[in-house]
Amino acid sequence: MKRIFSGIQPSGTITLGNYIGAMKQFVELQNDYDCFFCIVDQHAITVPQDRLQLRKNIKSLAAMYIAVGIDPKKATIFIQSEVPAHAQAGWMLQCVSYIGELERMTQFKDKSQGKEAVVAGLLTYPPLMAGDILLYNTDIVPVGEDQKQHLELTRDLAERFNKKYNDIFTIPEVRITKVGARVMSLQDPLKKMSKSDPNQKAFISLLDEPKQIEKKIKSAVTDSEGIVEYDKENKPGISNLLSIYSIFSGETIDEIVQKYEGKGYGDFKGDLAQVVVDALTPIQQRYYELIDSEELDQILDEGAQKANAIASKMAKKMENAMGLGRKRK
Ligand code: AQP
Repeated sequence: MKRIFSGIQPSGTITLGNYIGAMKQFVELQNDYDCFFCIVDQHAITVPQDRLQLRKNIKSLAAMYIAVGIDPKKATIFIQSEVPAHAQAGWMLQCVSYIGELERMTQFKDKSQGKEAVVAGLLTYPPLMAGDILLYNTDIVPVGEDQKQHLELTRDLAERFNKKYNDIFTIPEVRITKVGARVMSLQDPLKKMSKSDPNQKAFISLLDEPKQIEKKIKSAVTDSEGIVEYDKENKPGISNLLSIYSIFSGETIDEIVQKYEGKGYGDFKGDLAQVVVDALTPIQQRYYELIDSEELDQILDEGAQKANAIASKMAKKMENAMGLGRKRK
């Protein structure tokens, strides 16, 4: 059975972007692949975090994985920092990464822009991510479009390591969802929707209440034309909302456009809010059942154990390939 690995940072509450671009795919893939889904808390600390909030976000993300439909009997869910091999692999892969290629990463440029002091971890985020993936002999990595560049670098690093040291890594394929690969901010439709956006109105979180969802959708930036049609270039705001509508309703964009012919944005936005609320209600119910349960801790313990067994072996292989430590029988 082919293996899948993907991770999400506990850097805020999961947004519609993370759900559509990543989690929704995870649920579909768990039936056909051996899946590892990680809460990448070590990646989250590449930007400032409040420690108590981070702890809360870690558990929250774990509960969310299950609430959206990931079955811990089928997939392994675990926390990155509970598997030491990730930090080890990240370090070894930093030592095959070039500063120039890391500085060229769009995420690094975006997140470091305008900052006076940029921590080194923000630059070395991609080799840590490469380690996450390569430790598990991953065949496929399902992510949103924003992570494509990091995946390409992961492949380069794996090939470089295989050539320079020993052929130990599987070269992973990237898998990007077609519709909704890049869900845009509700306040600036030229920017991607992000869970750490300081403007709360820019994203819908999976835990937002119906009233908040309605308010955020109603205040979403569109254009002054008042015609519901899909034109990503000239009408990015309404096109983004159309994609969200299509994903949650199962209707095609053409069908939705036809439905709103001659109607204004008000009707469309009101119905979209309802479509989103209907989809999120059962997820929220399951989430609140899980969040403070012992069941959740047990799932995470078992996940860490299973991940550790695989990842520690690969970290050892990497060390051997690089000549670290002593040779043991
Ligand atoms: N707007 C998006 N549209 C589609 N997919 C998205 N993803 C993120 N934003 C969108 C996908 O969600 C997964 C988890 O991402 P992450 O938490 O590891 O980091 P990120 O891509 O940086 O996500 P955020 O929400 O923007 O987090 P912050 O604000 O902390 O930087 C990935 O598969 C990603 O592609």
